Amino acid sequence: MKTNGRASVQSEYPKFVTLSGGVQVRLRLMEPADKEMILAFARALPPDDLLFLRTDITQTGVLDEWARNVAIGVTVTLIAELDGALAGYASLHNDQARWTRRVGEIRLLLAPRFRGSGLGRRLAEEIFRIGQDRGIKKMAAMMTPDQTGAQAAFERLGFQVEALLQQWVVDRKGRPRDLLIMTHELGEAKE
Ligand SMILES: CC(C)(COP(=O)(O)OP(=O)(O)OC[C@H]1O[C@@H](n2cnc3c(N)ncnc32)[C@H](O)[C@@H]1OP(=O)(O)O)[C@@H](O)C(=O)NCCC(=O)NCCS
Repeated sequence: MKTNGRASVQSEYPKFVTLSGGVQVRLRLMEPADKEMILAFARALPPDDLLFLRTDITQTGVLDEWARNVAIGVTVTLIAELDGALAGYASLHNDQARWTRRVGEIRLLLAPRFRGSGLGRRLAEEIFRIGQDRGIKKMAAMMTPDQTGAQAAFERLGFQVEALLQQWVVDRKGRPRDLLIMTHELGEAKE
């Protein structure tokens, strides 16, 4: 059965996940009160990460809009935390009122020290399942061709390059960049 409500997903969390280094992180859904924790995480990211962020999550206003989208169900964000700090998150953006409702956009971002530990894969798997439960058939990830590490990681997660849009976005410094759209077909939700 497909569900669109937050309650059914919420009941599955928190979950505890042990990473390859033996560290255990806690997964749960984002709440509006997490804004300060996310801002602290974003403001500590290396400048190269910030350069390519789709929205500038170091800005309070952007976090407010994110929290509003979570509240109305257009965005679901799964956060991984350790000792009260954010280790990373996976967000799924999907507007059921639009004709693109069969496609969900995934955004994954981890603090540098948690990269390569299996957390990205685990967060992606969890968010795929949440997407399937909401009826999403295809997952899309967007990045610039310069993000070669992210592209390689998404390929390992089952994504393929679907489109390259020329000079489609501007980076944080205002420079035009090409946009790579990678996609991954999802199967039906498991009962
Ligand atoms: C991309 C990102 C989310 C991946 O998360 P991660 O925890 O580092 O990835 P995992 O350790 O779970 O690895 C997932 C798979 O990708 C591979 N992988 C991860 N980083 C890689 C890299 N830089 N180059 C090549 N392969 C890589 C892993 O080997 C693994 O494959 P396997 O399980 O088949 O062995 C993380 O590195 C990150 O936050 N990067 C910066 C933000 C970003 O670029 N986001 C993408 C735009 S939405």
